[in-house]
Amino acid sequence: MEINERIIVTGATGGMGAAAVEALAKEGHPVLMACRNLKKAQATRADILSRVPGAKLEIGLVDLASLDSVRAFAESVEPGSVSALFNNAGVISRGFSITEDGLENTFSVNYFGPSLLTRLLLPKLPQDAHIVNMVSLTCRFVSIDEASLRPTAKDFRQLITYARAKRAMVSFSQELARRYPLLHVNMADPGVVGTDMIDLGWWFDPFADVLVKPFFKTPQSGVQPALRALREEKQNRYYVGKQCKAIPARYINPFLDKSIWEETQKIIKL
Ligand SMILES: NC(=O)c1ccc[n+]([C@@H]2O[C@H](COP(=O)([O-])OP(=O)(O)OC[C@H]3O[C@@H](n4cnc5c(N)ncnc54)[C@H](OP(=O)(O)O)[C@@H]3O)[C@@H](O)[C@H]2O)c1
Repeated sequence: MEINERIIVTGATGGMGAAAVEALAKEGHPVLMACRNLKKAQATRADILSRVPGAKLEIGLVDLASLDSVRAFAESVEPGSVSALFNNAGVISRGFSITEDGLENTFSVNYFGPSLLTRLLLPKLPQDAHIVNMVSLTCRFVSIDEASLRPTAKDFRQLITYARAKRAMVSFSQELARRYPLLHVNMADPGVVGTDMIDLGWWFDPFADVLVKPFFKTPQSGVQPALRALREEKQNRYYVGKQCKAIPARYINPFLDKSIWEETQKIIKL
């Protein structure tokens, strides 16, 4: 990517999103910070500008838990104005909740919102755009099928639902690469990073903050695989830690990817 190319970063108010914006701004990239909370986004932008004066940072509002909001945001992006998309935003919902679209919230923010956003932006991006999807090591502990996309209150388990939403993203990422072979679609797994996300609302969180969090990666370090993935000139590379590797065999299942893509398409009404 050329340094003047504009990049959309979702979840730019959070740990790794904000770290990515700052790193990209330092390299000279204009960034469109796609955030749901305007005040937080303005504060993050001001903070980054205090360290990177002259950075070209714009804010766009998008709530990934609302398909209408995703559509409105995608509509606001000028064709040809962006070269790369970093699907970074994510959440681990503490309990079962349903969005205005009737979808489980963790799935909506980590999977349906980013999938719809990516699909709607495709006609506005160059054919060889760079797209990076943030996934998670938790994916390795779960399997999914079409039914997993719509967990019920009975199925909901905080970390398992999150892992399944990320696993769906792994499938989406591979199917996207298959259907759009000129795109540079890649994935990044940041490892365990000391951000707000890992406060799970459990009784021991305050102890974990003091005793364990200091040993986790910083957002600046955790986001490095994603930053490298953004520059990748191939497809379907999997960035984890300092490694860039082929997608692990456990995630390779083109039949599953196709069925997840088709079911998703129905759910997001594309
Ligand atoms: N931290 C880890 O150990 C870890 C490990 C593996 C993968 N990841 C992934 O890395 C990515 C970044 O996470 P992080 O650790 O930096 O978490 P974070 O600090 O909690 O940041 C999450 C970001 O997502 C945004 N977000 C949440 N719900 C949203 C919604 N409905 N619409 C739009 N944006 C929304 C948040 O916005 P607000 O500021 O408005 O809440 C925030 O900017 C996520 O995809 C996460 O799943 C993290």
